[in-house]
Amino acid sequence: MNIQENISLKAYNTFGIAANAKFFLEVNSLLQLQKALQLSAYPEKFIISGGSNMLLTKDINALVLHINLKGVSVFEEEENSVIIKVMAGENWHKLVLWTLYYDYGGLENLSYIPGNTGTAPIQNIGAYGVELKDVFVSCEAMDIQTQELKEFTKEDCKFGYRDSIFKNEAKGKYIITSVKLKLTKNNHKLHTFYGAIEQELAKNSIIHPTIKDVSNAVIAIRKSKLPNPKEIGNSGSFFKNPVVSKKVFEALKNKNSDVPFYEIENKTFKIPAGWLIEQCGFKGKRFGDAGVHQKQALVLVNYDNASGEEILNLSEKIQEAVFDKFKIRIIPEVNIIK
Ligand code: EPU
Repeated sequence: MNIQENISLKAYNTFGIAANAKFFLEVNSLLQLQKALQLSAYPEKFIISGGSNMLLTKDINALVLHINLKGVSVFEEEENSVIIKVMAGENWHKLVLWTLYYDYGGLENLSYIPGNTGTAPIQNIGAYGVELKDVFVSCEAMDIQTQELKEFTKEDCKFGYRDSIFKNEAKGKYIITSVKLKLTKNNHKLHTFYGAIEQELAKNSIIHPTIKDVSNAVIAIRKSKLPNPKEIGNSGSFFKNPVVSKKVFEALKNKNSDVPFYEIENKTFKIPAGWLIEQCGFKGKRFGDAGVHQKQALVLVNYDNASGEEILNLSEKIQEAVFDKFKIRIIPEVNIIK
């Protein structure tokens, strides 16, 4: 096995944090993954895949396994739908483009999200009114202790808003190796009501959109608001949007009549954390190489050489300011490696 030493992880995390891996191994097959997990000479293992939802705040004194399992195939096909099996190391957006090429519907609203397919279930990625769970069938994951493969159904995954079993009781116990998704072959169900999709389609005079049109609209919106990690390091939304009770929401609305919100089940309200952060004056602010994105205050950025600690300190400052002003706690959605 080609184990390398003292490798910078800057290119392996979308925040572009230059933390070092003491040992590093690229994993290209399930057999290799099994063998790597059994290496007793390296008792500590650390898993990295697309690196799009993590903030590294220190060097990793372990064997870093970079999951590079590849392959997309049609697992099951019916008249109106198809189940595809995707290996964990496949880039998410490339997968979305692949589904659009074959006119399989379901992933179009999830276009242009950085990261790899294997990590998508961990935080139940979501955008523009669609979440991974809406198309998810199951995933396979390797037990880190026994190296056995286990299947997790949609129910097993306990998906919630940016949440799953892999962030809770199964955290650190499994490596997701593949994901199965169910997509439509015809009569695609479009979700265009959310965000600026309808305006974007209207701007281009599209009256009867196809899934490709919806994807293009989402790509245009994301490009206009979110920084490209290849240009400015970031991890998408740094915080989750807080969900508050009707009572808290009404008190907030009394003082701030312009507060944006989404009403959700059980008479609770989701408040955009980006708005709360902007109200505290952080939008577009820069502290050294750590900053808050100019066009979306929910996104923290690394202009080049910020350390993970600097980004973390900024995030804590923001949390405190939001709490002081609104008495609402915002919680990171990014996995912070301390
Ligand atoms: N807003 C502000 N100021 C800002 C940012 C947002 O006032 O700086 C306001 C906007 O004006 C709008 C509202 O907040 O009224 C919502 O903003 P936006 O549509 O950009 O969505 P979001 O709630 O901030 C969520 C997801 C994004 C996803 C978008 C679109 C979370 C944590 N984030 O952001 O997901 O792309 O909706 O569906 O739920 C990600 O998870 O990495 C991510 C980018």
